Amino acid sequence: MGTDYNTTVRKHWDNSCGAGLPARESNDLDRVADKNVRATREFPTSLQIGNVRISPATVLAPMAGVTDTVFRRFIKNLGGCGLIMTEFTSADGVLRDQRVRGRYLHFYEDEHPISAQLFGSNPSVLADAARMVEDLGFDLVDLNLGCPAKKVVKCNGGSGLLRDLPLIRQIFESVRAAVKIPFTVKFRAGWNDDEIVCVDLARLAEDCGLGAVALHARTREQGYSGNARWEWIGLVKQAVKIPVIGNGDIRSPEDACAMVAQTGCDAVMIGRMAPSNPWIFRQIEQYVTTGSFVDPAEADRYQMIRTYFRMLLEEEMPGAEGKMKQFASWFTHGVPGGAALRKAIYEAKSGAEILGRVEEFFEAKLSAQTT
Ligand SMILES: Cc1cc2nc3c(=O)[nH]c(=O)nc-3n(C[C@H](O)[C@H](O)[C@H](O)COP(=O)(O)O)c2cc1C
Repeated sequence: MGTDYNTTVRKHWDNSCGAGLPARESNDLDRVADKNVRATREFPTSLQIGNVRISPATVLAPMAGVTDTVFRRFIKNLGGCGLIMTEFTSADGVLRDQRVRGRYLHFYEDEHPISAQLFGSNPSVLADAARMVEDLGFDLVDLNLGCPAKKVVKCNGGSGLLRDLPLIRQIFESVRAAVKIPFTVKFRAGWNDDEIVCVDLARLAEDCGLGAVALHARTREQGYSGNARWEWIGLVKQAVKIPVIGNGDIRSPEDACAMVAQTGCDAVMIGRMAPSNPWIFRQIEQYVTTGSFVDPAEADRYQMIRTYFRMLLEEEMPGAEGKMKQFASWFTHGVPGGAALRKAIYEAKSGAEILGRVEEFFEAKLSAQTT
């Protein structure tokens, strides 16, 4: 097989999921500590993108190396997540190589509604790939204009395109004409602070018939540093009539409501928090309805890890072992004695052994609690 583009570029993402979300900076604290904003629990019940109804109005962000079919179904089963998306997928790769297609665009019936995210820079290649996505039965197709990876940017893909609005127009028009399913775009605010294009880009998307836009409110140059600047989401919302999905730095149900209150966005998208707190979507639902939410007990955390690991092993996912190790560190963050478990997991030689270590660890803890 030629280069698997997804795998090659994946390592360039900032891989700091969940536990790695940096501490808030002070102005960020002020933002969410604002009593009026903090107190509001208004949250859209659903989101309509073309003929696709998304309820509740929450989206699992696409994350390379994370949001494969197992993780997506795992999140969906826990409840509260209205839309799931594939990890970004090379338009070129899926057209050329059946194995890339099988690996990145495979999904199960219980994943609907589901969106496939593509990246690339050639309008006709992206249109062909979008047609394939539609034929495979996806409900939506999304274009990635946010990937900061050098390898993608160098070929003008991902956030590299943010500097070429005329080419973006060509891509929008070409993909829009190629498929009937709703077409959406996920982008960063601009290349850097001097080249903010989010409002122009959202208007362009609306003009070209896209069904919704999702904004990760950082620039390409920012990477994952500093705060997501939610005010940009508000500006985009004011500029277009199509739904706007807000993304960046949501760590809690309160944050999700604060983003809606501050920006008026139609849905929220959550990325890095999902692997360390996969209950976050359900917690948002609980919080919006009751004003409080349940934190998982240790027994729940155990069930969750075990379920996810078993799903990975059953799926015979390529790289399952590596994923189990990676997830173990996110999942066990904050669990007393978690460091010892992480060490045991890293030393394990197979997926089954990793699962065994997890079971031993939690069984011992839970039985100590009940005796
Ligand atoms: C490990 C990782 C992989 C990512 N992969 C993708 C991707 O494939 N496509 C995409 O549009 N964004 C990707 N992102 C960005 C997220 O979708 C999201 O925009 C970003 O993490 C900000 O949201 P958050 O603060 O809720 O994490 C990735 C982020 C991380 C941490």
